[in-house]
Amino acid sequence: MEIFEQKLIAKGGTADIYDLGNGTIFKCFHDDKNDYCIESEIQCTSSKVAIALGAPQILERVNDERGRGFIMENIRGQTMLEKMFVQGADFDIKENAQIMAQLQYKISKFDGKEFPSGHDVMKERILQSSFLDDAEKNYVLKILDSLPQGTSVCHSDLHPANIIITESGEYRVIDWCDTMCDSPLLDVARTLLIYKSVAPMPGTNLEDLNKSRVAWYYFYKSAWENLAGTSEDELNKWLAVLAAVKLAESDSADHQWMKELMKN
Ligand SMILES: Nc1ncnc2c1ncn2[C@@H]1O[C@H](COP(=O)(O)OP(=O)(O)O)[C@@H](O)[C@H]1O
Ligand SMILES: [Mg+2]
Repeated sequence: MEIFEQKLIAKGGTADIYDLGNGTIFKCFHDDKNDYCIESEIQCTSSKVAIALGAPQILERVNDERGRGFIMENIRGQTMLEKMFVQGADFDIKENAQIMAQLQYKISKFDGKEFPSGHDVMKERILQSSFLDDAEKNYVLKILDSLPQGTSVCHSDLHPANIIITESGEYRVIDWCDTMCDSPLLDVARTLLIYKSVAPMPGTNLEDLNKSRVAWYYFYKSAWENLAGTSEDELNKWLAVLAAVKLAESDSADHQWMKELMKN
């Protein structure tokens, strides 16, 4: 990607993001990501729920010498995470966690039947996981089976780096690559697990980071409970399932507590 090298703005696990300088962004997928993954992200990003939550407009599918991916609207602003790092102690975690819970609540009000079932996706990922032995797989699959299949849209990766705060103060949810249909608690559990992480993040002081993670966890969870009410038992079961699934994509520093959470 020589021609875009100086405009790289983010490097993620699935793709690199380039600012093309004309109000557009190129999401260029890594070689190990198949075309199905790209098509599915385009489809989810163009869905009614994603548009209502401010997803970027998709402008062009790219599959040529520039790479594989798509060009989309550049949403000008800062992600919630960038804002937190820039503002430091002035950043209000409680207020932002509440906003994130409100966005989650809004997403959960959309009917998700057009998306793959969260139960099916989770089952597949558990069965394929090389981080779990057969007994662990059976244990967690039983928990999954005991959970009711929900009908809400699940973004599946709602966190502060996937929310852009625009210059006019709008909140826009991006990264609709894994949208599913199930209980909103699948989404809530996934987000809470991110805050349970103890792994370091480049460029941050681990002690401060962990303090802020605890605050995010607490304020997000209580804001969600105030909005939707929560069955603690059901949430704990979703946490166990999501911990099992998330093992494969997490830093090894997080593996032990995730396994413990899974077995609770
Ligand atoms: N449409 C967009 N407009 C502005 N910035 C974007 C846009 N899409 C992505 N980004 C930036 O790139 C980062 C990574 O993009 P994202 O789609 O979340 O990819 P990943 O799957 O790697 O997390 C985001 O956190 C955000 O900073
Ligand atoms: Mg992202």
